[in-house]
Amino acid sequence: MEKIIINGGHRLCGEVTISGAKNAAVAIIPAVMLSDGICRIENIPCISDVSAIIRILYDLGANIKVIDKSTVEIDPAHINSFVLSSSMTSGMRASSYFIGAMLGRFKKARVAPPGGCDFGVRPIDQHIKGFEALGAKVIIDNGMVDARAETLTGSSIYLDKVSVGATVNIMLAAVKAVGLTIIENAAKEPHIVDLANFLNSMGANIMGAGTDVIKIRGVKTLHGTTYSIIPDQIEAGTYMVAAVATRGSVLIKNIIPKHLESISAKLTEIGAEIEEYDDSILISLNLKHPRPCSLLTMPHPGFPTDMQPQITTLLAIADGVSTVTEGVWDNRFRYVDQLTLMGAKMKVDGRFAVITGVDKLSSAPVHATDLRAGAALVIAALVANGTTEIDNIEYIDRGYENIVEKLNALGADIKRVRTADPNLRKTAL
Ligand code: EPU
Repeated sequence: MEKIIINGGHRLCGEVTISGAKNAAVAIIPAVMLSDGICRIENIPCISDVSAIIRILYDLGANIKVIDKSTVEIDPAHINSFVLSSSMTSGMRASSYFIGAMLGRFKKARVAPPGGCDFGVRPIDQHIKGFEALGAKVIIDNGMVDARAETLTGSSIYLDKVSVGATVNIMLAAVKAVGLTIIENAAKEPHIVDLANFLNSMGANIMGAGTDVIKIRGVKTLHGTTYSIIPDQIEAGTYMVAAVATRGSVLIKNIIPKHLESISAKLTEIGAEIEEYDDSILISLNLKHPRPCSLLTMPHPGFPTDMQPQITTLLAIADGVSTVTEGVWDNRFRYVDQLTLMGAKMKVDGRFAVITGVDKLSSAPVHATDLRAGAALVIAALVANGTTEIDNIEYIDRGYENIVEKLNALGADIKRVRTADPNLRKTAL
């Protein structure tokens, strides 16, 4: 087991390069199953969620050639299984994308329910609605999602709720279906557009990704391709918030500024100064404290829920009272107890939080409750007085490549240390 130890109080200054987008990578890698040829994927982030999804493809029979730390070549020719057991799916949400990909390839899939961060109930009813509209019969059998179709036929699907996962899964199942599929009220996140671009580069015919209506005209075959994944919007946003929280000045490189618009707008409102370039952003804060604000998370192009814990942490040291409303998940404020241990003043009522800014946070032993909550604790520790120890950092490793190295290069005092496994100690005692 490992923990992160941070001596707070250092301004972040310098440059950081953003890695490929986790949520694009975890959709694009399963999509390789649909190809008849070898796919070379570049700008893959080196994070544990991506290793896990590549591992699943490998276990299913794909040939994986690692070219360098951010490039792999995947040959899906020998994948012959349409079954994913719970040991393969329990660690991550994106394992559900294999249902769509397997349906697209084999017209059948048998996949244990996905795991992933715990934000309350995470249903997949809209995914299933989409598969059924395409002609699949979907049952839950012995704890497994079992989907089978004689033929997949294009259809019109209106999503009752804007869902990234359902939009991805329906695209995967529909791309080789017969005829035209229309997804209405589709998710518009940059990673949806990236998946569509990837599939189109293999010969798919997908239009409208990035808007509410995605049209997919089924094709018979998809060929191999070379594709580079977009930069990670949330990793970039996390470093933006960390720069502002420490009153530093950071050039955030390898980004698409358009993907960061809602984050940049909010940080500007809070008092940050932002200069945008073609593929980088320079961000700084020249106030003693950030200004308070009110914020609502929404599907794209709204303010992303995956930035909510980080910005709430910034508001904990703002000059006044802020409100944050979580518009996507039922239970995404579980980390607040940990921030309170560090001196933050926050009251949570369901999806609504009131944050009264304090002058300083102080160090405490804390633990990550999920991926973005872990990033929020890192930001809190960077600004806190004293030395903070963060446990459960495997959550952070799911989504942030080399976070310790990247923050150290910006002037933070942060290290990763090995700790004794408490279970082993118990056995020894
Ligand atoms: N929903 C339904 N039915 C469904 C699917 C979703 O009611 O069939 C609801 C959910 O309960 C939630 C809302 O719709 O209230 C949005 O869920 P969505 O399906 O969009 O989320 P997801 O696909 O499970 C992805 C990201 C999450 C991110 C959300 C929202 C991946 C692998 N995960 O999850 O990312 O929070 O979209 O943007 O893309 C993260 O990266 O830290 C992370 C949690």
